Amino acid sequence: MTLPVAVLASGRGSNLAALIAARAAGELPIEFTLVAGDKADAPALRNAEAHGIPTFALEPKSFAARAEFDAALFANVKASGAQLVVLAGYMRILDPAVTAQWTGRMINIHPSLLPKYRGLHTHRRALEAGDTEHGSSVHFVSAELDGGPVIAQVRIKIHPRDTEDTLAERLLPKEHRLLVACVGAIARGRVCERNGQTWCDGRPLAKPLQLNTDGRLAGA
Ligand code: GRF
Repeated sequence: MTLPVAVLASGRGSNLAALIAARAAGELPIEFTLVAGDKADAPALRNAEAHGIPTFALEPKSFAARAEFDAALFANVKASGAQLVVLAGYMRILDPAVTAQWTGRMINIHPSLLPKYRGLHTHRRALEAGDTEHGSSVHFVSAELDGGPVIAQVRIKIHPRDTEDTLAERLLPKEHRLLVACVGAIARGRVCERNGQTWCDGRPLAKPLQLNTDGRLAGA
């Protein structure tokens, strides 16, 4: 059994590329039903096309309101047959009607150790706060921006000379492995959301799972 997955992306698409590569390597029991977004010229969509994955883009300016844009976008996601939606660098806030419809079936990757630094400029904010560690989180999507139940995190140390760029550069490859591991855990039925909590192997998580150096998820 493979899990039908739709990916939403707005830009570069390195997380999408990691998912495509992991699937091609036989590491992910998924099939891509659609890669969609809000920017027709996004590299993520071009890469999907190059791999034979259907793509779809809508122009937000053509819609009077967010709710209408999201309804149209997610009508296509649903029609694709997706059972899981992965937000991989999708830069738009979602309408609550859509998040309610996809509860437990939509995940997001966010470059901070949630609940720290929801929203933008996470690397800068971690540096300005004098944090000694930083990381990325994958979470189920709720109506609250970057606020749904966290599945797993990956951590890196912050060095004294780090800049936003060096942090981002060091974190990105780990973020890719984190996303692949989380999608794999959902596709294999190990991880799900129930009653606003993340469950793993039949138990609610007290803390997010952590990505090990071998690329596996472990209890915190
Ligand atoms: C990633 O850092 C992700 O955490 C954030 O947006 C960035 C997307 O990068 N949500 P890419 O488009 O996957 O390369």
